Amino acid sequence: KVYTDYFYNSEDFDKNHEMGYKDLHIPEGVEAQPLIVPPVLEPDKQENNDVWFTIDSQEGDFQFLPGKKTHTWGYNFPVLGKTMVLTRGQHVHVTLKNSLPELTTYHWHGMELQGPGNDGACHSPVYPGEEKHIDFTVKQPAALTWLHAHPCPSTAMQVWMGLAMGVVITDANEAKLPIPKTYGKDEFPIILQDRIFHEDNQFDYKADYNAMGIFGDTPIINGVVRPYVDVTTQKVRLLFLGGSNRREWRLHFSDDLVMTQIAGDDSFLEHPVKLTKVLIGPGERQQVVVDFSNYKEGDVVNLYTDDFKLVEFRIHSYEKDDSVIPDTLFKPYDPVVNPNSPVPHVTMDNHNMINGKLFSMERIDMKQELMNAEYWDVTNTNDKVNGMLHPFHTHGAHFLVVSRNGKEPYPNERGVYKDTIEVAPQETVRIKVYFQNTGVFMYHCHIIEHEDAGMMAQIQIVDPKEPDKKYHLMDMETL
Ligand code: C2O
Ligand code: CU
Ligand code: CU
Repeated sequence: KVYTDYFYNSEDFDKNHEMGYKDLHIPEGVEAQPLIVPPVLEPDKQENNDVWFTIDSQEGDFQFLPGKKTHTWGYNFPVLGKTMVLTRGQHVHVTLKNSLPELTTYHWHGMELQGPGNDGACHSPVYPGEEKHIDFTVKQPAALTWLHAHPCPSTAMQVWMGLAMGVVITDANEAKLPIPKTYGKDEFPIILQDRIFHEDNQFDYKADYNAMGIFGDTPIINGVVRPYVDVTTQKVRLLFLGGSNRREWRLHFSDDLVMTQIAGDDSFLEHPVKLTKVLIGPGERQQVVVDFSNYKEGDVVNLYTDDFKLVEFRIHSYEKDDSVIPDTLFKPYDPVVNPNSPVPHVTMDNHNMINGKLFSMERIDMKQELMNAEYWDVTNTNDKVNGMLHPFHTHGAHFLVVSRNGKEPYPNERGVYKDTIEVAPQETVRIKVYFQNTGVFMYHCHIIEHEDAGMMAQIQIVDPKEPDKKYHLMDMETL
């Protein structure tokens, strides 16, 4: 079976100009350029199972458009970053360096790390000119996760300046799957973002600020406005990352070329799903394999969002590839929920609130026991007429999607570890959440302006052996 819709109701899509929606366009004079494949971040050293990296938040200048370069921020790179590749089981040491003029934090979105220190959200600032060391063991399956800045309340501005990069986790299961996995040859990260360029091609976050979320009018894909990919293999694997502050991407190919979705946020899918359309909300990741066997050298296949052409795939000669994607890719762990566990109800409300409250750094909104699965009901309370999809995200854990308004979850969100999920107006999504690390973690809407404005809350994960453990929570003033 091939699914041919986005699953979500198109009424709920972002396309209303009164809510700040902007159509995409390619500025005049921009020529097609090869897609930038972020280089793999080289470790500082490696010894047996231990690996050391340095991540430096730095200022730079980057040529997005003809004419003046744009002033940007990035990780070891003028914009975005390099790709960090980690293997499950590895012990990772990271030096977090801040060469920016203001404080930043390093949040590992999709990684299951201890909070708040390693998780790297608001409570873990690194001040300008300083550095900090963290270390952790990778305990999760193969996935594309990501690193982005997360200082409260300027996450959106720092991400807009460029602070976001891919963190790829590999494992033994992936190694044996017959799927494309040669980074840069038949496997490409596709970081989907949009920006607004002002005079002299500069960003101006303040001028563009909108509490509903900022749309850009110019696409940047891995930092390239009008990218093409040279296809030299029959099959190509695309690792999509929704990196926009607000925009949801509604992707499809020319000729309705079928994509085989193999992975979501934090794992492979239990069973691959064939589809012609895939929606990627802010913060989400979806991985697909496309098979170009019906095309020949010289053909061009385009990737669109709605009816806007985003990426050109230029077909070159390739060897025949008869490999078949297996029917089972991954066995998710599905913990049993204790019937006595509470079922917290999390609401994403108007005026950027969660459960009727704005975010406070010093308030713990929920508690959950370590290694104890709970159902959460996540509701978007917006009304149908003026509402929008809110991408709900939780730090420090993955979850399984159990139901949407009591019905089956969508085909591409079954049997997969998720950490970000779109919730439509008047919809309740039941998820099964399981934390393997203690700490204080945020959960929030991943439209980053909503998050900064207050659509965020905190959960404390309690180890019953250490029920009174206290965490040092920062407040906005002492930051
Ligand atoms: Cu991408 Cu608080 O997260
Ligand atoms: Cu996160
Ligand atoms: Cu939101």
